[in-house]
Formats: sequence, C-alpha cells, structure tokens
Amino acid sequence: MEKKGKVWMNGALVPWEKATVPLLSHGFSRGSAIFEVFGTHKGPDGVYAFRMDEHLKRLAQSARALEMEIAYSAEEIALAVRETVEANEVERGIVKMFAYWGEEAVINLVLDAKLDVAIFVIPDSEELGLDDSEPISACISKWRKLHPETVPVAAKACANYLNGYLARKDAADRGFDVGFLIGTDDFLAEGSIESVFLVKDGVLKTPALGPILSGVTRKSILQAAEVIGLPTTEDRMTAQDLLAADEIFTTGTGNMISPVARFEDITIPAPGPVSKQLMELMAGITRFSDDRFNDWFQRLY
Ligand SMILES: Cc1ncc(COP(=O)(O)O)c(C=O)c1O
Repeated sequence: MEKKGKVWMNGALVPWEKATVPLLSHGFSRGSAIFEVFGTHKGPDGVYAFRMDEHLKRLAQSARALEMEIAYSAEEIALAVRETVEANEVERGIVKMFAYWGEEAVINLVLDAKLDVAIFVIPDSEELGLDDSEPISACISKWRKLHPETVPVAAKACANYLNGYLARKDAADRGFDVGFLIGTDDFLAEGSIESVFLVKDGVLKTPALGPILSGVTRKSILQAAEVIGLPTTEDRMTAQDLLAADEIFTTGTGNMISPVARFEDITIPAPGPVSKQLMELMAGITRFSDDRFNDWFQRLY
C-alpha cells in the first residue's frame, strides 16, 4: 500500500509516517481501540462520503458499549474528515478512523482519559479493490462467533477482530475466500468483516441484529430492497439454511456486495438474479444515477 499523505491526529494534519502510537499504548497493547471505515465517492460536483452519519453514530455506540468517551463530537469528527479528504485530494477511496488511548499504560487496564482520534484517507488501489464484484467462495468457520455476553460484539473494537482473523485464516487454509462464523447458539452470525445475506424463494434473508455488528451496508441493502419491493426478513438462520439457499452474498463497505459462487462443496449461481438486481441498484446509487438515495451521501469537498 502506498504510504503517503496526511493523517488527522487530534486536531492537526500530520505526515502519514508520524501517525503512530507507542507500543505500550492501551490502544495497541490491549487492543482497545475502536474504529470505523467508510467509502468516499466521486459525485457530479465533488467528493461525497457514503453514510458518514451512520458510521459516526456507530463509532459513538462502540465507545458507549465499551464505556469509553471520545475527545471529539461527531460534528467535530465530520469536519475533520472533510479536512483530511480534501487535503489528500482523494476521490474514490476509504476513510479509516480510530478512537484510542494513545498514551502508554503498562499496568493500568482502566483509564479515565478521553479517546484520541486519528483519521486516515486511503485512495482506491489494486490492493483495496473497491467496487470489485467478483464472486467469492465461503465456508463455515471452525471458530464460533464471540458470545455477546463476553464482549459487546456490536462494538467495532480492534480486539474483537482476533475472532474475524481466525475465521478468515481457517477459510484460507481450506481454500476459501471467507469464513462464516456461527454463534455458540448454533445460529449464523456474520463473516470476519462482512455481513451475510441469503435468498430463498425470492425472499432476502439476513441474521437479526444483536450478536453481530450492525453493518451500514447491511442496513442500506435492507432499505434499498424495501424501496424496490423485495421481501426481506431479519431472523435466526443456520448453516442448513445456507446450504439450501438459492443465492448467498456478503456485504461490507469495501465491495458493497460480493456474490458467493461456492459455499462449502456446493456451487451456486453468482450473482443470482436477486443479487444481480441489488448489485445494479447499489452501483447506480454510488454512481449518483439514482436520486432516491441522495440523503445517503454527505459532500466532503
Ligand atoms: C464483523 C463485521 N461485520 C460486518 C461488517 C460490514 O459492515 P459495514 O457494512 O458497515 O462495512 C464489517 C465491516 O468491517 C465487520 O467488520
């Protein structure tokens, strides 16, 4: 990845290589940082964020769930995002921001300081592969989803991603792109860094909120489906439901929708007709050719 450009750190733009924390910081050594990632898109008259309001709301919810306090308000962070995206002249790309305890904390587990904030803007590249809609393969991970009574799994906290890392590693070791995590209750939760949808008999289905991250793309797909009259359910589902699905896809900020062409040893159409319709709908929205969803975008510069 190209490491250049400016990073917003606690009120100032600093060179990329200066945007660091001590190894002994709480955020790094305890993995307690929280973060958000969202897309930037080139519109007809400027560069826009995709649902920054939703992402900043989720950042605040992550802090609340972990009983932490961020040193900046959502309004201040939104202004900082605008400043950073414009300073880096990024068009299509992603904003990745962290709220973290950046000070050294060797023994202390509970700090009473407010969280620092750092905002990175990363332009699209071959490595990022934004808007890549290539079909993927998926399996059920040997690892279970973190139980929501052990840590708040709806918080986008760095420490929670060991669970996702292991699922992705297990999938890769078995020749799959992504691994789906099943909860200890035997119901499907989500992928490592993606929400999961299936289509059965013309109905779009996804696991209910609670034991999963509240994906902004997930929410957007459900809202878009409603606008086009596609029936949806948010309910419990099992590995058996995936095996019997007509279509499966994952959603997330990077690629929006990734159709699954192989699930375990089953080959499925990818994209199937419903996935294709939703992919075209989302592509139209992010190309600004569908003005029914204009309020999903905030102008950055
Ligand atoms: C665990 C997990 N689930 C789902 C998602 C998808 O969320 P979003 O659509 O907000 O990117 C992510 C994104 O990183 C994630 O980490």
